[in-house]
Amino acid sequence: MSEDGESAGELEARLPDGETFEPPASFVEQANVSDEGIYEAFEEDWPACWERAADLLDWDDDYDTVLNDSDAPFYEWFTGGSLNASYNCVDRHVEAGRGDEAAIEWVGELGETRTYTYDDLHREVNEFAAALRELGVAEDDVVTLYMPMIPELPVAMLACARIGAPHSVVFAGFSADALATRMESADSEYLVTCDGYYRRGDVLPHKEKADEGLASVGHDVTTIVADRTGEEYDHPMADGEHDFDELLAAHEGATVEPVQRDAEDMLFLMYTSGTTGKPKGVKHTTGGYLSYVSWTAHAVLDIKPEDTYWCSADIGWITGHSYIVYGPLALGTTSVMYEGTPDYPEKDRLWEIVEDYDVTQLYTAPTAIRAFMKWGAEYPNRHDLSSLRLLGTVGEPINPRAWKWYYKHIGDESCPVVDTWWQTETGGMMITTLPGVGEMKPGSAGPPLPGISANVLDQSGDPVDPGEAGYLTVDKPWPGMLRTLYRNDERFVEEYWREYSDPEDDEWVYFPEDGAKLDEDGYITVLGRVDDVINVSGHRLGTMELESAIVGVEGVAEAAVVGGDHDIKGEAVYAYVITEDGHEGDEALRERIVTGVEDAIGPIARPEDVIFTPELPKTRSGKIMRRLLEDIANGDELGNTNTLRNPEIVDDIAGKVGGD
Ligand code: WT7
Repeated sequence: MSEDGESAGELEARLPDGETFEPPASFVEQANVSDEGIYEAFEEDWPACWERAADLLDWDDDYDTVLNDSDAPFYEWFTGGSLNASYNCVDRHVEAGRGDEAAIEWVGELGETRTYTYDDLHREVNEFAAALRELGVAEDDVVTLYMPMIPELPVAMLACARIGAPHSVVFAGFSADALATRMESADSEYLVTCDGYYRRGDVLPHKEKADEGLASVGHDVTTIVADRTGEEYDHPMADGEHDFDELLAAHEGATVEPVQRDAEDMLFLMYTSGTTGKPKGVKHTTGGYLSYVSWTAHAVLDIKPEDTYWCSADIGWITGHSYIVYGPLALGTTSVMYEGTPDYPEKDRLWEIVEDYDVTQLYTAPTAIRAFMKWGAEYPNRHDLSSLRLLGTVGEPINPRAWKWYYKHIGDESCPVVDTWWQTETGGMMITTLPGVGEMKPGSAGPPLPGISANVLDQSGDPVDPGEAGYLTVDKPWPGMLRTLYRNDERFVEEYWREYSDPEDDEWVYFPEDGAKLDEDGYITVLGRVDDVINVSGHRLGTMELESAIVGVEGVAEAAVVGGDHDIKGEAVYAYVITEDGHEGDEALRERIVTGVEDAIGPIARPEDVIFTPELPKTRSGKIMRRLLEDIANGDELGNTNTLRNPEIVDDIAGKVGGD
């Protein structure tokens, strides 16, 4: 948590302006959840209320306890139950006679399309599961999936789930180094990747990046390579590497019995950034996670089997895990998966897809909406978007102007907009209106979902008055919660449960490290991170990771990284750098720094600006005053410099950023 808590205040400009919207009657009539009594019902019946979520799944063995809190904060959900995620997302829909309905509608960047029916998915998942087994993957082995948005990715995820091997998906845009760190941290001996993929028409040589990462993994790895680009990019294949399609062919028609997993068995691992330089391996389980994402996909996204639902996130992030793959497929709907970017070949690409597929729900990020707004309404106006019934956003605060633009120009004022607050760690949505129940307030996510207990507290743990900024906390466990940080129980307790809990009284409060405000109606407006995490286009980057990448560049003595406001991305990376004696802060060094960051993390972390300075503003105790650096990046009036050891440096630095 930042020591001053003022970062929340800086975001006041994003507060709602008081305008509210009722859920459209046409939506309410058909909504999966439309009874406002659901909040009270969940509260009265807590934690048994969560059986409703578990009931959306097929269990092999019934659980005997909904919540086991005997070892809090190491909670267990649906104890004693067993199930298989791949069975729930695939087989049961086939068994219900829906095998010929589309599970995944894949749209490639070059305009190609592929439809995977539930039968197709069933066949490939089985074949790939058989292949993984033959290659030696055993239950509980972590399989790393370093793949872009190609159908082989969900196939591989579900195949892992089928044999009880947790997957660890590494976002394809991450660098070779980032891949290596994650594979080492998880001792992962299996990698599924691909040859290359397309971005704005160009082929990206993904396999080369994977090879570079593998070169710095200290143990043996079995590698499988999917072929995305065909002849276009002849990728290097080393001896002993396997081709995805050849493996499927070798196991044609094979079936693999879904492994019965204990509810608490790990379904997957997902690395995310935190305050320290080391990414955190968030552990999600089979029973609690799958129940929770299915329930929220049902109650919030209003998913029905006959829908064509589209979440435009990348599966490499938690949003894609929960709401492209697991939630929608568990509910047996059609999930659209788009490989490319929204402005290629034209700025109406998304709207073309909505029209072509009669998309019923669209779930995207504020960053994307701000870009659409900038491009103008003419692009959506070219298409018939009347199939849309619901709109959603996730990943960062949405400013009311962007919310209203989305509501009007995409939803034609007839689709509810759900602004869903959650995190990698929460597994699924936590704070949002229920689209068939609650009034919408642009800019404010809404009340906590039924069964979720969230509060806004001040530093000493007392609730703040309505309208005051404070810290968001969650004081009851929920089924989708992370269970621990992989092989690091201590850091799990330290990171999330230290700040507001009272262990002596066995009172545990989860701290997500976000600032927030509460209004009189109990609506929560999430203001943004209060730790050293920057949210660039809805992607989480740790300042420590960025700083250590920069300090690793030859010629750099010290670096401080902050997030500055950005019109489209929400926040952007600003790097303040002190050079080593004998090195110039010139264009060449700037280039090396940018490359250093791209190599360590990936292009998403690319600094917006690198500012060379002889000193950084520091307190007398030697702490860098990041808040001042943020003010400078934003061109804001500078905060108090009284406590600085070197106040004179502030104007000096500000002079260098002035041009922005
Ligand atoms: C952080 C979590 C949730 C999946 C994508 C990001 C911010 C997320 C909202 C929202 C305001 C939001 C928070 C949170 N955030 N959704 N609707 N309004 N802020 O997952 O990478 O784990 O990042 O994203 O700061 O802590 P993540």
